[in-house]
Amino acid sequence: MIALLGVVAAIIAVWLYFGFLETLLVTSILGILYVLVFHSRWCYIAIKTAPRDLRALWCYLKILIMTRRLTKKDWTLPDIFHETVQKHPDKPCFLFQNEVWTFEEVENYSLRVSAVLKSLGVKKGDIVGLLVNNCAQMPALWLGNARLGGITPLINTNQRGKALIHSINVAKCDVLIFSDEYESAIQDISSELSSLIKLFKFTHRPLNPSNPVTKASGDGITDLTSLLENTPPMPWALADANGFQGKLLYIYTSGTTGLPKAAVISNSRYVFMACGLHHMRLNSSDVVYCPLPLYHTAGGVVSVGQALVFGCTVILKPKFSASQYFPDCAKYKATAAHYIGEMCRYVLATPPSPADKQHSVRVVYGNGLRPQIWTEFVTRFNIKYVTEFYGATEGNANIANTDGTPGAIGFVSRIFPKIYPIAIIKVDQETGEPIRDSHGLCQLAQANEPGVFIGKISPNNPTREYLGYVDKNASEKKIVRNVFTQGDSAFISGDILVADEFGYLYFRDRTGDTFRWRGENVSTSEVEAVISNIADQRDAVVYGVLVPNIEGRAGMCGIVDDNNSLDLDKLAKDLARDLPPYARPVFLRVMTSLDMTGTFKMKKTDLQKEGFDPSMVKGDKLYYLDLKNGKYLSLGPEEFQRISNGQIRL
Ligand SMILES: *[C@@H]1O[C@H](CO)[C@@H](O)[C@H](O)[C@H]1NC(C)=O
Ligand SMILES: *[C@@H]1O[C@H](CO)[C@@H](O)[C@H](O)[C@H]1NC(C)=O
Ligand SMILES: *[C@@H]1O[C@H](CO)[C@@H](O)[C@H](O)[C@H]1NC(C)=O
Ligand SMILES: *[C@@H]1O[C@H](CO)[C@@H](O)[C@H](O)[C@H]1NC(C)=O
Ligand SMILES: *[C@@H]1O[C@H](CO)[C@@H](O)[C@H](O)[C@H]1NC(C)=O
Repeated sequence: MIALLGVVAAIIAVWLYFGFLETLLVTSILGILYVLVFHSRWCYIAIKTAPRDLRALWCYLKILIMTRRLTKKDWTLPDIFHETVQKHPDKPCFLFQNEVWTFEEVENYSLRVSAVLKSLGVKKGDIVGLLVNNCAQMPALWLGNARLGGITPLINTNQRGKALIHSINVAKCDVLIFSDEYESAIQDISSELSSLIKLFKFTHRPLNPSNPVTKASGDGITDLTSLLENTPPMPWALADANGFQGKLLYIYTSGTTGLPKAAVISNSRYVFMACGLHHMRLNSSDVVYCPLPLYHTAGGVVSVGQALVFGCTVILKPKFSASQYFPDCAKYKATAAHYIGEMCRYVLATPPSPADKQHSVRVVYGNGLRPQIWTEFVTRFNIKYVTEFYGATEGNANIANTDGTPGAIGFVSRIFPKIYPIAIIKVDQETGEPIRDSHGLCQLAQANEPGVFIGKISPNNPTREYLGYVDKNASEKKIVRNVFTQGDSAFISGDILVADEFGYLYFRDRTGDTFRWRGENVSTSEVEAVISNIADQRDAVVYGVLVPNIEGRAGMCGIVDDNNSLDLDKLAKDLARDLPPYARPVFLRVMTSLDMTGTFKMKKTDLQKEGFDPSMVKGDKLYYLDLKNGKYLSLGPEEFQRISNGQIRL
């Protein structure tokens, strides 16, 4: 206070004695000196991160301009696609195996779909589920439905039985279109499906077949393909739908636990997600390789959106293949390629070959390229740019690593932290509950302090609104209220992130996955990555198990060894080198295969339930870490007893 008065007095004295200009000069110099001396670290960070922030701000402005324009026009996706088609009707839109579909052909096909669905009684607001594997017609099927104002749930094609019934019912489907390869899956559940649901069978056939099918199948199921091949396209017209903010798709989030939930994707959100990626590194001359399933956001929105919204050529695949990844890119002359989750690890595990560098991919994008293999991946495959991004299908929290900093999944600006509506807040890492201050509000996590990632909600702004799930109760569970002021709300992602001093964000773990052992927090995904790296990129899944009379959870690692070549002594030695003692798995479960979701996420809950009890674990071998000589020893019923009653110390 006295110092401040002194400064003010000095300024007034200078002013009186010398005049205005001199005073201005002196105060500016003093101000700059003050900032430089007392906030030098902040200045350094601001200068270092300014280019990154400005670049991202430029992208963000482009997104806002585009969404504003489309909000004004109130177009839906078929209308937006029509504008793209007009620009270059004869350019290839989708490449699928040997098929080349031009933009006009895709649109014509979708106009046929509209005509056929209309003739079958589909009307505005109807829900037409789609259980169709990747092919060029798949996006055209939902575009055709969207033109009539219908909503399309994209059903995960791996689902069978209960999960499949659940997906169809939770979306309240009026119609289900399925491809013939899933006919038996549908027959298996047909007795439990409501008889009100109309079933249409789709058969994948190449474009312009020389022999149109005419015969309709006689089993009460409408044969969509014969109708499509014999009905002329509907004349083009603007969609009769609910505008830019209207619902377009339902996409199921394939959680690693519980039944899938249907997240709502509006037209605006579709455009926003496609747009966000596009402006980072892509342009409309890019040829994009997408080996992902089209029923998830990554494939069906982010990549397919590059074609529908921006006019890129997109290469589709029936199924991901690690050994074909870069050879495919070379064959189709891809300039950009999409990855997800563990794909990069599988591609990296293929034997090195000259094809590794004989392609023209300049940018790869996706989420889940782990820091541990990032550099090796870009070096081996000669990739110029990596755009790693993060965005929850059902949420409004999206971030991206725009400058290729290895391992980061995005950033928050240190100069203008408020400009983009995301934050990391302090939580209890085991339960995921926000830690609140004395006013009941959440607290921002400091640099290097793990916290949960949230997106602030403001309705009707495509970058900040939260559409949630079809199931309202499930939506409510993902909202946290009274975040920074009383009455505000945010989408809580459930992912634990940590920000460094420059604002770069790194993925730590899912809440609930992190466990505590010997007073330390163990991030399962970090340990998984280290183990995979040590063990020739094998699949590894890490989880905490309860041990009687010991606090916390002991780390257990399920590791796949399908050819009996895993050297446990070497593994133990390498783990001791690369992991702190509390993070080393106490138990090992050597498995021949691992159950995974469609996006290569590993299912942990069943493994966790079985724990390290040999009577529960059938078929797999168990080991425990012997502390004395640092080796994994076999764990049978006798060792289980001795561990449980504390005779063997862990
Ligand atoms: C698309 O449909 C229109 C109208 O039916 C037709 O004139 C045009 O030739 C079709 N284009 C292609 C590429 O099939
Ligand atoms: C646009 O994409 C093409 C194809 O990948 C690339 O050659 C070109 O450099 C890109 N242009 C810009 C401005 O990034
Ligand atoms: C582990 O996380 C909790 C909060 O979830 C925190 O209070 C504790 O300090 C952390 N422990 C360590 C060693 O980081
Ligand atoms: C949602 O929650 C309300 C109140 O908690 C309950 O009455 C209702 O049955 C729930 N709905 C569903 C679909 O679970
Ligand atoms: C066994 O599989 C691993 C990883 O899948 C591989 O690295 C290793 O070379 C294989 N060993 C033999 C003997 O085939």
